[in-house]
Amino acid sequence: MAVFYNGARAVCHELTVDADLFKDSMRHLAGAVSVITVGRGNDRTGFTATSVSSLAIDPPSVIVSLNRDSSSWPVLQRHGTFCVNVLAHDQRHVAESFAGRGGRRGVERYQDAHWRELATGTLALGNALTVLDCELDDAIERHSHGIVIGRVRVISPHQQKNEASRQVTIAVIEPAISATDRKRMRP
Ligand SMILES: Cc1cc2nc3c(=O)[nH]c(=O)nc-3n(C[C@H](O)[C@H](O)[C@H](O)COP(=O)(O)O)c2cc1C
Repeated sequence: MAVFYNGARAVCHELTVDADLFKDSMRHLAGAVSVITVGRGNDRTGFTATSVSSLAIDPPSVIVSLNRDSSSWPVLQRHGTFCVNVLAHDQRHVAESFAGRGGRRGVERYQDAHWRELATGTLALGNALTVLDCELDDAIERHSHGIVIGRVRVISPHQQKNEASRQVTIAVIEPAISATDRKRMRP
């Protein structure tokens, strides 16, 4: 593996890191859990994500890493928009649904929650801490994932939710997800 830094070329040894160890390690990166909705009508699905991060203020933009084997990847390409819904502590069931718990797929993942349509046609979750309606700006394919860049078009924060209700963390969600379900999850 070659690494380029400031024009200098350094050659690193190929090191093998155990995938399970890597996943366990990444679980210590506790943070907000979001549900990303993609598609419209019956051509609709979405996924639970912890990889959401802000990219820039000007223009307002975010990045999300999305597994390219996921059902959301082709739907995102078809429609070119997505919505980031940052979950509150009482929306764990939505996180589980969009992680595919119990084999839920596509439109089924939207059951048991309230949704409203935003400017770009994506669906926003009622009572999410904040909602970012995005147009797909770019998707950079690297390894198993796509680094999805979204240009934020509309922001719809929830006014009433207080600090205490912030952040469903991976640590909170994980015990409720079976080993079988976990195998289906990425990364
Ligand atoms: C807490 C949590 C965080 C996740 N974060 C991501 C993520 O950032 N990117 C991703 O591609 N998948 C992530 N996943 C896995 C996807 O939610 C899951 O694989 C997807 O919904 C199922 O793929 P499918 O649509 O093909 O069934 C996460 C799962 C959980 C439970």
